Amino acid sequence: MVSRVIPVDPFDLVLFGATGDLARRKILPSLFHRFQIAQFSPQSRIIGTSRSKLDKSGFQAFVAEAIREFGQEGETGEEDIAAFVQLLDYVPVDAKDDTGWLALKSHLRADVIRVFYLSVGPSLFPEIASRLSSCNIATPESRIVLEKPFGHDLGSAQALNGALRDHFDESQIYRIDHYLGKETVQNLMALRFANSLFEPLWNSTHIDHVQITVAESIGVAGRGEYYDRSGAMRDMVQNHLMQLLCLTAMEPPSRFTSNAVRDEKVKVIEALETVAQGDLARGQYRATPGSAVADSYLDHAGDPNSRTESFIAMKVQVANWRWAGTPFYLRTGKCLRARESEIAVYFRDPPHNIFEGADGVHGNVLVIRLQPDEGITLRTTIKDPGPGGMRLTGANLDMTFADSLPEAGRPQDAYERLIMDVIRGNQTLFMRGDEVEAAWAWADPIIDGWSQSGAAPQAYDRGGSGPEDSLLLMHRDNRRWRTIGA
Ligand code: BG6
Repeated sequence: MVSRVIPVDPFDLVLFGATGDLARRKILPSLFHRFQIAQFSPQSRIIGTSRSKLDKSGFQAFVAEAIREFGQEGETGEEDIAAFVQLLDYVPVDAKDDTGWLALKSHLRADVIRVFYLSVGPSLFPEIASRLSSCNIATPESRIVLEKPFGHDLGSAQALNGALRDHFDESQIYRIDHYLGKETVQNLMALRFANSLFEPLWNSTHIDHVQITVAESIGVAGRGEYYDRSGAMRDMVQNHLMQLLCLTAMEPPSRFTSNAVRDEKVKVIEALETVAQGDLARGQYRATPGSAVADSYLDHAGDPNSRTESFIAMKVQVANWRWAGTPFYLRTGKCLRARESEIAVYFRDPPHNIFEGADGVHGNVLVIRLQPDEGITLRTTIKDPGPGGMRLTGANLDMTFADSLPEAGRPQDAYERLIMDVIRGNQTLFMRGDEVEAAWAWADPIIDGWSQSGAAPQAYDRGGSGPEDSLLLMHRDNRRWRTIGA
């Protein structure tokens, strides 16, 4: 197969929080895989920092172990790991005092791209940004990468953006929403803007409604305290589902450049109406009846009276010419029947049925599957084959990327692409500051609405499809959610 890898220039990547969970599970294995396919050369360096008193060889052993545990199955050869760890170095740095900053500076080279990746709690972002600047470690060409959450509400997001912009230009700031690095999310843009078939139909004249589902089978065990301060709205909707909504609803950008794409996304967020409390359903998973282990949300939340939602569903209206009259239904939750993320676009029924007496004529549904089995399905109505008259039935035009394009190889983790985009200096798949703030400006009044009412989330069973209220939200509109894990 011809290599499609586009090499990047040599870099020094400083990883703050290098011994943390995200670094171990995602960031370091992703860097390893891109090294393995020779996207960057051994001239690049990855410098781990954290408060842990590790040395270089201790960090190398830690990274080798992380790759063996979390690297792609069958692609973690010991020879490649041994070569990769030669790129590593380690400097103990304490973000809260002077320890290590000068040592860190002395490890960086003048003539290569500098990336500072902050895989640390957001309370440390301003402090680290300020020290990188005051110790003259960051240059005007350096890039800073941040993990969510970007604030807790509009005010805190503005404060955070302000603190970052005191030291870095917006063009240097890479805010990660890893959903944007998923293959199918980019495919959504390809599908819409590289085909002439869909775009003429992509509006309220032809589309009845859109369902966006991000269902997870896992619960919050292990991160209950963090999660309990966020809930599904802050943890998933304000960012990941918002991005899916934006890419589905946005106008075609004039070019595929970072600001052209992000300008269009901001316009969608600004067009969103505030969701009325009657147009949303919040849930919290309860214990499995008869289970010997404590497995309810409240068992892990750290607060036995918590009213935080582990599930949310809502009806969202995009108030613009393209979408007026076409609701977007969003839902996401933990401990549901399956891990399944998809965007389902429901087209309107044909305006007139010429097949008298034949039932089974349904509107087309285009399903864009993010995970698992990334791919696209189009539900069509066809003649039921064989004798029996003109009977109609539904049939799917189905494309799973892995089957249709086997030469593409294994699915790429979102982090692989995103980190390489940082090195390339391409911000298209990262959230701009105004975009994050617009999303909070939309989310805040909705969250305030239920906080003020004191309404508790409705209990739902583990392994199901969420609370009763979520089903009612659809029934009320004579619609039904797609079955999770069908
Ligand atoms: C994270 C959320 O951003 O995304 C988690 O904080 C969630 O709660 C995760 O589980 C889902 O990501 P993915 O890629 O597994 O769908």
